[in-house]
Amino acid sequence: MSFLTLTTERLILRAFTPGDLPDLVRLAGDWEIARTTTIPYPYSEEIACHWIATHGEAFKQRRAVTWAITHRGEGYFMGAIELRFLKQRHVAEMGYWVGVPYWGQGYTTEAARAVLAYGFGEAGLYRIQAQHFHTNPASGRVMQKIGMTYEGSRRAAVFRWEQYHDMLMYAILKPEYERQRTASEEENA
Ligand SMILES: CC(C)(COP(=O)(O)OP(=O)(O)OC[C@H]1O[C@@H](n2cnc3c(N)ncnc32)[C@H](O)[C@@H]1OP(=O)(O)O)[C@@H](O)C(=O)NCCC(=O)NCCS
Repeated sequence: MSFLTLTTERLILRAFTPGDLPDLVRLAGDWEIARTTTIPYPYSEEIACHWIATHGEAFKQRRAVTWAITHRGEGYFMGAIELRFLKQRHVAEMGYWVGVPYWGQGYTTEAARAVLAYGFGEAGLYRIQAQHFHTNPASGRVMQKIGMTYEGSRRAAVFRWEQYHDMLMYAILKPEYERQRTASEEENA
């Protein structure tokens, strides 16, 4: 499996570089990002630096692929998206965030579609899953828009911010992805 830079209509998903650190710390450090994720808060440059440094080895050992989400036209850093490979063969979990200034413009959906194509193509996956805090319907909407199916709730699965959170589970299987892709190609023909 090779690391691929992924290009979409408006985005380039590429490997993180040390040059991303200031924007990463600023955007990931926002409370709105910590509120619905397990990303540390407060988020320091040291945490960010350590996190970026883990990407190479995680990829080599086929544990995870992590991309920086950047603007295709202007190159600025917007967020992150990741596939984490699970112990079961051919299964991975997708996680993502984008900085608050970029919310609501379809960027995460666009990035996630590119990552699905990579997952079912280059990475040879059969199942890609994702989960979100029950208090985060926008993330659930992204999962629905990329064709994932709701599979149920893991009740009180995460303790964060002094309370238990139900995690809502979604997934898409390779044949479903291929059927949806064929249908959308036919629609656009
Ligand atoms: C969740 C998150 C990734 C969404 O990113 P985004 O780029 O705004 O997502 P998109 O624009 O592609 O899609 C968002 C969808 O959610 C919808 N939405 C936004 N707020 C919503 C709400 N409160 N209830 C229901 N849907 C909502 C939007 O209308 C849009 O759907 P639409 O295109 O049908 O109108 C972003 O808000 C984020 O980074 N949040 C913090 C980190 C996080 O929660 N990551 C996910 C962890 S599972």
